[in-house]
Amino acid sequence: MIRTSILGIGSYVPDRIVTNEELAYLDQKHVRQTEKQTETNDEWIRVRSGIEQRHYVPNDGKWACSDLAKEAAVRAIADAKLQPKDIDCIILATLSPDIHFPGTAVFLQSKLGIDGEEGCACYDIRQQCSGFLYGLQMADSFVKTGLYKRILIVGSELHSHSLEYSTRGRDVMVLFGDGAGAIVVGPQETNDERAGVLYTKVQADGSGALDLYLKCFDIAKVPYLDYDANKTEENRDMWPTMNGKKVFLHAVRCMTMATNQALAATGLTWKDIDWFVPHQANLRINEAVVHYAEIPPEKALNSIMFYGNTTAATVPLTIDHYRREGKVKKGDLILSAVFGAGFTWGAGIFRV
Ligand code: UT7
Repeated sequence: MIRTSILGIGSYVPDRIVTNEELAYLDQKHVRQTEKQTETNDEWIRVRSGIEQRHYVPNDGKWACSDLAKEAAVRAIADAKLQPKDIDCIILATLSPDIHFPGTAVFLQSKLGIDGEEGCACYDIRQQCSGFLYGLQMADSFVKTGLYKRILIVGSELHSHSLEYSTRGRDVMVLFGDGAGAIVVGPQETNDERAGVLYTKVQADGSGALDLYLKCFDIAKVPYLDYDANKTEENRDMWPTMNGKKVFLHAVRCMTMATNQALAATGLTWKDIDWFVPHQANLRINEAVVHYAEIPPEKALNSIMFYGNTTAATVPLTIDHYRREGKVKKGDLILSAVFGAGFTWGAGIFRV
Protein backbone atom coordinates (compact mmCIF):
# COMPACT_ATOMS: atom_id res chain seq x y z
CA MET A 1 0.00 0.00 0.00
CA ILE A 2 1.29 3.46 -0.94
CA ARG A 3 1.52 5.92 1.94
CA THR A 4 2.87 9.47 1.98
CA SER A 5 6.18 9.97 3.80
CA ILE A 6 7.76 13.19 4.92
CA LEU A 7 11.23 13.08 3.35
CA GLY A 8 12.66 16.42 4.44
CA ILE A 9 11.93 19.55 6.48
CA GLY A 10 13.39 23.07 6.39
CA SER A 11 12.60 26.57 7.54
CA TYR A 12 13.90 30.09 7.28
CA VAL A 13 13.47 33.38 9.10
CA PRO A 14 15.30 36.59 8.19
CA ASP A 15 18.10 37.80 10.49
CA ARG A 16 16.52 41.02 11.77
CA ILE A 17 14.85 40.51 15.16
CA VAL A 18 12.26 43.11 16.18
CA THR A 19 11.47 43.04 19.89
CA ASN A 20 8.14 44.19 21.31
CA GLU A 21 9.92 47.21 22.72
CA GLU A 22 11.40 48.25 19.36
CA LEU A 23 8.15 47.63 17.47
CA ALA A 24 6.43 50.64 19.07
CA TYR A 25 9.09 52.96 17.58
CA LEU A 26 9.03 51.66 13.97
CA ASP A 27 7.68 53.80 11.16
CA GLN A 28 5.97 52.42 8.05
CA LYS A 29 9.39 51.56 6.56
CA HIS A 30 10.46 49.72 9.74
CA VAL A 31 12.97 52.42 10.64
CA ARG A 32 13.31 53.09 14.37
CA GLN A 33 12.25 56.62 15.29
CA THR A 34 13.01 58.49 18.51
CA GLU A 35 9.29 59.08 19.20
CA LYS A 36 6.82 56.23 19.70
CA GLN A 37 4.86 55.62 16.48
CA THR A 38 2.37 53.16 18.03
CA GLU A 39 0.79 53.16 21.48
CA THR A 40 1.73 49.65 22.52
CA ASN A 41 4.17 48.02 24.91
CA ASP A 42 5.99 44.80 25.69
CA GLU A 43 3.71 43.88 28.59
CA TRP A 44 0.47 44.17 26.59
CA ILE A 45 1.85 42.07 23.73
CA ARG A 46 3.36 39.37 25.99
CA VAL A 47 0.33 39.06 28.27
CA ARG A 48 -2.30 38.99 25.48
CA SER A 49 -0.40 36.95 22.86
CA GLY A 50 2.78 35.43 24.33
CA ILE A 51 4.87 37.07 21.59
CA GLU A 52 8.31 38.41 22.60
CA GLN A 53 9.85 39.15 19.19
CA ARG A 54 9.43 38.54 15.47
CA HIS A 55 11.78 38.51 12.46
CA TYR A 56 11.57 41.00 9.56
CA VAL A 57 13.15 40.98 6.10
CA PRO A 58 15.50 43.89 5.31
CA ASN A 59 13.55 46.99 4.26
CA ASP A 60 15.56 47.36 1.05
CA GLY A 61 12.65 46.47 -1.23
CA LYS A 62 14.45 43.37 -2.52
CA TRP A 63 12.62 40.65 -0.61
CA ALA A 64 9.41 38.95 -1.69
CA CYS A 65 7.46 35.99 -0.32
CA SER A 66 9.10 33.66 -2.87
CA ASP A 67 12.59 34.58 -1.56
CA LEU A 68 11.69 33.41 1.95
CA ALA A 69 10.03 30.34 0.40
CA LYS A 70 13.17 29.55 -1.56
CA GLU A 71 15.40 29.57 1.52
CA ALA A 72 13.10 27.15 3.36
CA ALA A 73 12.60 24.99 0.25
CA VAL A 74 16.35 24.62 -0.39
CA ARG A 75 16.81 23.43 3.19
CA ALA A 76 13.91 20.95 3.01
CA ILE A 77 15.11 19.55 -0.34
CA ALA A 78 18.66 19.13 1.03
CA ASP A 79 17.24 17.48 4.17
CA ALA A 80 15.44 14.99 1.91
CA LYS A 81 18.80 14.36 0.18
CA LEU A 82 17.31 15.46 -3.13
CA GLN A 83 18.07 18.10 -5.75
CA PRO A 84 15.59 20.83 -6.78
CA LYS A 85 15.25 19.07 -10.19
CA ASP A 86 13.78 16.02 -8.41
CA ILE A 87 10.67 18.02 -7.37
CA ASP A 88 7.69 17.23 -9.63
CA CYS A 89 5.09 19.44 -7.91
CA ILE A 90 5.18 22.62 -5.81
CA ILE A 91 2.32 23.57 -3.49
CA LEU A 92 2.81 27.02 -1.99
CA ALA A 93 0.55 28.44 0.71
CA THR A 94 0.61 32.16 1.47
CA LEU A 95 -1.59 35.16 2.20
CA SER A 96 1.21 37.55 1.22
CA PRO A 97 1.90 36.61 -2.43
CA ASP A 98 4.65 38.32 -4.45
CA ILE A 99 2.06 40.00 -6.72
CA HIS A 100 -1.67 39.62 -7.48
CA PHE A 101 -1.06 37.14 -10.31
CA PRO A 102 0.54 34.85 -11.28
CA GLY A 103 0.74 32.83 -8.10
CA THR A 104 3.90 32.73 -6.01
CA ALA A 105 4.71 29.04 -6.66
CA VAL A 106 5.92 29.85 -10.18
CA PHE A 107 8.31 32.52 -8.84
CA LEU A 108 9.60 29.96 -6.38
CA GLN A 109 10.04 27.44 -9.18
CA SER A 110 12.21 29.92 -11.11
CA LYS A 111 14.23 30.83 -8.01
CA LEU A 112 14.91 27.12 -7.46
CA GLY A 113 16.23 26.98 -11.04
CA ILE A 114 13.68 24.38 -12.19
CA ASP A 115 11.54 26.46 -14.57
CA GLY A 116 11.40 25.87 -18.33
CA GLU A 117 9.46 23.74 -20.80
CA GLU A 118 9.80 20.63 -18.64
CA GLY A 119 8.77 22.58 -15.53
CA CYS A 120 6.83 20.86 -12.76
CA ALA A 121 3.24 21.55 -11.67
CA CYS A 122 2.84 24.65 -9.47
CA TYR A 123 -0.13 25.31 -7.18
CA ASP A 124 -0.85 28.32 -5.00
CA ILE A 125 -3.32 27.84 -2.20
CA ARG A 126 -4.91 30.70 -0.27
CA GLN A 127 -6.03 29.17 3.00
CA GLN A 128 -4.12 31.54 5.26
CA CYS A 129 -3.11 30.04 8.63
CA SER A 130 -4.56 26.68 7.58
CA GLY A 131 -2.63 26.64 4.29
CA PHE A 132 0.00 24.13 5.37
CA LEU A 133 -2.51 21.43 6.36
CA TYR A 134 -4.63 22.12 3.26
CA GLY A 135 -1.42 21.65 1.24
CA LEU A 136 -0.51 18.47 3.08
CA GLN A 137 -3.93 16.96 2.39
CA MET A 138 -3.61 17.84 -1.30
CA ALA A 139 -0.10 16.39 -1.51
CA ASP A 140 -1.18 13.22 0.33
CA SER A 141 -3.91 12.66 -2.28
CA PHE A 142 -1.51 13.33 -5.17
CA VAL A 143 1.04 10.86 -3.77
CA LYS A 144 -1.55 8.14 -3.09
CA THR A 145 -2.96 8.39 -6.62
CA GLY A 146 0.57 8.17 -8.02
CA LEU A 147 0.31 11.54 -9.80
CA TYR A 148 3.45 13.09 -8.26
CA LYS A 149 6.37 11.54 -6.40
CA ARG A 150 8.38 14.39 -4.93
CA ILE A 151 6.14 17.21 -3.75
CA LEU A 152 7.45 20.39 -2.15
CA ILE A 153 4.95 22.02 0.24
CA VAL A 154 5.88 25.50 1.39
CA GLY A 155 4.20 27.96 3.74
CA SER A 156 5.76 31.40 3.33
CA GLU A 157 4.80 34.85 4.56
CA LEU A 158 6.18 38.34 4.20
CA HIS A 159 3.92 40.22 6.60
CA SER A 160 6.11 43.13 7.63
CA HIS A 161 5.42 45.11 4.42
CA SER A 162 1.64 45.04 4.76
CA LEU A 163 1.11 45.93 8.42
CA GLU A 164 -0.10 49.30 9.64
CA TYR A 165 2.54 50.73 12.01
CA SER A 166 0.22 53.00 13.99
CA THR A 167 -2.09 52.86 16.98
CA ARG A 168 -5.02 52.20 14.62
CA GLY A 169 -3.32 49.08 13.22
CA ARG A 170 -1.74 47.84 16.45
CA ASP A 171 -4.18 44.99 17.20
CA VAL A 172 -3.00 43.17 14.05
CA MET A 173 0.46 44.65 13.55
CA VAL A 174 2.00 43.37 16.80
CA LEU A 175 1.05 39.76 16.05
CA PHE A 176 2.76 39.00 12.74
CA GLY A 177 6.28 38.16 11.59
CA ASP A 178 8.09 37.05 8.42
CA GLY A 179 9.19 33.46 7.82
CA ALA A 180 8.83 30.28 5.82
CA GLY A 181 8.68 26.53 6.41
CA ALA A 182 8.78 23.67 3.92
CA ILE A 183 8.56 19.91 3.65
CA VAL A 184 9.12 17.40 0.86
CA VAL A 185 6.82 14.38 0.66
CA GLY A 186 6.92 11.24 -1.45
CA PRO A 187 5.52 7.69 -1.66
CA GLN A 188 6.48 4.82 0.61
CA GLU A 189 5.37 1.20 0.01
CA THR A 190 4.33 -0.19 3.40
CA ASN A 191 1.59 -2.04 5.26
CA ASP A 192 2.26 -0.05 8.42
CA GLU A 193 -0.89 2.00 9.03
CA ARG A 194 1.03 4.28 11.35
CA ALA A 195 3.64 5.32 8.75
CA GLY A 196 3.86 8.75 7.12
CA VAL A 197 0.71 10.84 6.90
CA LEU A 198 -2.00 9.10 8.95
CA TYR A 199 -4.79 11.65 8.81
CA THR A 200 -5.80 15.03 7.44
CA LYS A 201 -9.13 16.82 7.64
CA VAL A 202 -9.65 20.45 6.68
CA GLN A 203 -12.76 22.61 6.82
CA ALA A 204 -14.00 26.15 6.20
CA ASP A 205 -16.86 28.45 7.21
CA GLY A 206 -17.17 31.35 4.79
CA SER A 207 -19.49 33.25 7.13
CA GLY A 208 -16.32 34.37 8.95
CA ALA A 209 -14.61 35.70 5.80
CA LEU A 210 -14.80 39.35 6.81
CA ASP A 211 -13.75 38.79 10.43
CA LEU A 212 -10.12 38.69 9.32
CA TYR A 213 -9.19 40.04 5.92
CA LEU A 214 -6.98 42.28 3.84
CA LYS A 215 -8.73 43.74 0.80
CA CYS A 216 -5.97 45.66 -1.00
CA PHE A 217 -8.47 45.97 -3.84
CA ASP A 218 -12.15 45.28 -4.39
CA ILE A 219 -12.76 43.80 -7.85
CA ALA A 220 -16.49 44.68 -7.61
CA LYS A 221 -15.59 48.38 -7.74
CA VAL A 222 -14.81 50.38 -10.88
CA PRO A 223 -12.01 51.32 -10.61
CA TYR A 224 -11.14 48.39 -8.39
CA LEU A 225 -8.35 50.35 -6.64
CA ASP A 226 -9.79 53.67 -5.49
CA TYR A 227 -7.61 55.00 -2.71
CA ASP A 228 -4.45 57.03 -2.40
CA ALA A 229 -1.90 54.77 -0.73
CA ASN A 230 -0.13 57.78 0.79
CA LYS A 231 -3.25 59.04 2.56
CA THR A 232 -3.14 56.39 5.23
CA GLU A 233 -5.78 58.04 7.43
CA GLU A 234 -8.37 58.01 4.63
CA ASN A 235 -8.00 54.46 3.44
CA ARG A 236 -8.22 51.15 5.22
CA ASP A 237 -8.32 48.79 2.26
CA MET A 238 -4.56 48.33 2.15
CA TRP A 239 -4.35 47.24 5.79
CA PRO A 240 -5.44 44.00 7.46
CA THR A 241 -8.60 44.11 9.59
CA MET A 242 -9.55 41.68 12.34
CA ASN A 243 -12.42 41.04 14.70
CA GLY A 244 -9.93 39.76 17.28
CA LYS A 245 -12.25 38.43 19.97
CA LYS A 246 -14.42 36.49 17.51
CA VAL A 247 -11.36 35.02 15.78
CA PHE A 248 -9.94 34.03 19.18
CA LEU A 249 -13.11 32.22 20.28
CA HIS A 250 -13.57 30.40 16.96
CA ALA A 251 -9.91 29.40 16.92
CA VAL A 252 -10.16 27.77 20.34
CA ARG A 253 -13.41 26.00 19.47
CA CYS A 254 -12.41 24.76 16.01
CA MET A 255 -8.88 23.67 16.93
CA THR A 256 -10.22 21.76 19.96
CA MET A 257 -12.91 20.11 17.82
CA ALA A 258 -10.45 19.27 15.02
CA THR A 259 -8.01 17.73 17.52
CA ASN A 260 -10.69 15.55 19.10
CA GLN A 261 -11.98 14.48 15.67
CA ALA A 262 -8.45 13.46 14.61
CA LEU A 263 -8.06 11.23 17.66
CA ALA A 264 -11.54 9.71 17.26
CA ALA A 265 -11.01 9.00 13.54
CA THR A 266 -7.63 7.28 14.02
CA GLY A 267 -8.28 5.63 17.40
CA LEU A 268 -5.04 7.15 18.69
CA THR A 269 -4.54 8.62 22.17
CA TRP A 270 -1.98 11.07 23.54
CA LYS A 271 0.08 8.03 24.57
CA ASP A 272 0.65 7.32 20.85
CA ILE A 273 1.38 10.92 19.82
CA ASP A 274 4.72 12.57 20.58
CA TRP A 275 3.91 16.25 19.96
CA PHE A 276 1.02 18.65 19.54
CA VAL A 277 1.95 21.39 17.06
CA PRO A 278 -0.82 23.99 16.88
CA HIS A 279 -0.89 26.99 14.57
CA GLN A 280 0.92 29.88 16.24
CA ALA A 281 -1.52 32.81 16.32
CA ASN A 282 -1.66 33.43 20.04
CA LEU A 283 -0.13 31.49 22.93
CA ARG A 284 -3.38 31.97 24.90
CA ILE A 285 -5.37 30.26 22.12
CA ASN A 286 -2.97 27.30 22.23
CA GLU A 287 -3.09 27.10 26.03
CA ALA A 288 -6.90 27.04 25.88
CA VAL A 289 -6.87 24.25 23.25
CA VAL A 290 -4.43 22.23 25.39
CA HIS A 291 -6.83 22.68 28.31
CA TYR A 292 -10.11 21.86 26.55
CA ALA A 293 -8.75 18.97 24.43
CA GLU A 294 -6.96 17.56 27.50
CA ILE A 295 -3.57 17.47 25.77
CA PRO A 296 -0.57 16.73 28.00
CA PRO A 297 0.94 20.27 28.25
CA GLU A 298 4.51 18.94 27.96
CA LYS A 299 3.65 17.64 24.47
CA ALA A 300 2.59 21.07 23.14
CA LEU A 301 5.23 22.86 21.05
CA ASN A 302 5.00 26.65 20.66
CA SER A 303 7.34 28.99 18.82
CA ILE A 304 5.23 32.16 18.69
CA MET A 305 7.48 33.71 21.37
CA PHE A 306 10.37 33.83 18.89
CA TYR A 307 8.64 34.36 15.52
CA GLY A 308 5.17 35.85 16.10
CA ASN A 309 2.45 34.60 13.78
CA THR A 310 3.94 33.54 10.43
CA THR A 311 0.55 32.30 9.17
CA ALA A 312 1.03 29.47 6.60
CA ALA A 313 4.59 28.89 7.82
CA THR A 314 3.94 28.30 11.52
CA VAL A 315 3.56 24.50 11.55
CA PRO A 316 6.70 23.51 9.56
CA LEU A 317 8.64 26.38 11.20
CA THR A 318 7.75 25.16 14.69
CA ILE A 319 8.55 21.54 13.85
CA ASP A 320 11.90 22.53 12.35
CA HIS A 321 12.69 24.82 15.30
CA TYR A 322 12.29 21.98 17.81
CA ARG A 323 13.97 19.47 15.48
CA ARG A 324 17.07 21.69 15.39
CA GLU A 325 16.90 21.92 19.20
CA GLY A 326 16.94 18.10 19.32
CA LYS A 327 13.46 17.81 20.86
CA VAL A 328 11.59 16.50 17.82
CA LYS A 329 13.25 13.37 16.48
CA LYS A 330 13.06 11.44 13.22
CA GLY A 331 9.96 9.25 13.25
CA ASP A 332 8.08 11.23 15.93
CA LEU A 333 4.31 11.34 15.53
CA ILE A 334 2.80 14.83 15.40
CA LEU A 335 -0.78 16.00 15.73
CA SER A 336 -1.21 19.48 14.29
CA ALA A 337 -4.32 21.68 14.51
CA VAL A 338 -4.75 24.98 12.71
CA PHE A 339 -7.22 27.85 12.38
CA GLY A 340 -7.19 30.99 10.28
CA ALA A 341 -8.89 33.54 8.10
CA GLY A 342 -11.77 32.30 6.00
CA PHE A 343 -12.59 30.90 8.52
CA THR A 344 -10.53 27.81 7.73
CA TRP A 345 -9.29 25.12 10.08
CA GLY A 346 -8.20 21.52 10.26
CA ALA A 347 -5.99 18.88 11.83
CA GLY A 348 -3.40 16.39 10.64
CA ILE A 349 -1.49 13.48 12.14
CA PHE A 350 1.82 12.65 10.51
CA ARG A 351 5.23 11.16 11.23
CA VAL A 352 8.22 13.48 10.63
O1 UT7 B 1 -3.85 33.43 12.76
C1 UT7 B 1 -5.21 33.56 13.09
C2 UT7 B 1 -5.52 34.96 13.24
N1 UT7 B 1 -5.42 35.67 14.43
C3 UT7 B 1 -5.80 35.27 15.67
O2 UT7 B 1 -6.08 34.15 15.93
C4 UT7 B 1 -5.88 36.35 16.72
C5 UT7 B 1 -7.08 36.20 17.60
N2 UT7 B 1 -7.28 37.30 18.53
C6 UT7 B 1 -6.39 37.64 19.48
O3 UT7 B 1 -5.34 37.03 19.59
C7 UT7 B 1 -6.75 38.73 20.44
O4 UT7 B 1 -8.09 39.13 20.23
C8 UT7 B 1 -5.80 39.96 20.36
C9 UT7 B 1 -4.43 39.59 20.90
C10 UT7 B 1 -5.69 40.46 18.94
C11 UT7 B 1 -6.37 41.11 21.20
O5 UT7 B 1 -6.54 40.71 22.53
P1 UT7 B 1 -7.90 41.06 23.33
O6 UT7 B 1 -7.71 40.58 24.69
O7 UT7 B 1 -9.04 40.51 22.51
O8 UT7 B 1 -7.87 42.65 23.34
P2 UT7 B 1 -8.96 43.66 22.79
O9 UT7 B 1 -8.98 43.66 21.31
O10 UT7 B 1 -10.24 43.46 23.54
O11 UT7 B 1 -8.35 45.03 23.27
C12 UT7 B 1 -8.25 45.38 24.65
C13 UT7 B 1 -7.67 46.78 24.74
C14 UT7 B 1 -8.41 47.78 23.86
O12 UT7 B 1 -8.40 49.02 24.54
P3 UT7 B 1 -9.69 49.52 25.37
O13 UT7 B 1 -10.81 49.60 24.35
O14 UT7 B 1 -9.92 48.49 26.42
O15 UT7 B 1 -9.26 50.86 25.90
C15 UT7 B 1 -7.54 47.88 22.64
O16 UT7 B 1 -7.67 49.12 21.99
O17 UT7 B 1 -6.32 46.76 24.28
C16 UT7 B 1 -6.17 47.74 23.25
N3 UT7 B 1 -5.17 47.23 22.30
C17 UT7 B 1 -3.86 47.40 22.48
N4 UT7 B 1 -3.14 48.01 23.44
C18 UT7 B 1 -1.80 47.98 23.33
C19 UT7 B 1 -5.38 46.52 21.17
N5 UT7 B 1 -4.20 46.22 20.59
C20 UT7 B 1 -3.24 46.75 21.39
C21 UT7 B 1 -1.83 46.76 21.32
N6 UT7 B 1 -1.15 47.39 22.33
N7 UT7 B 1 -1.15 46.17 20.34
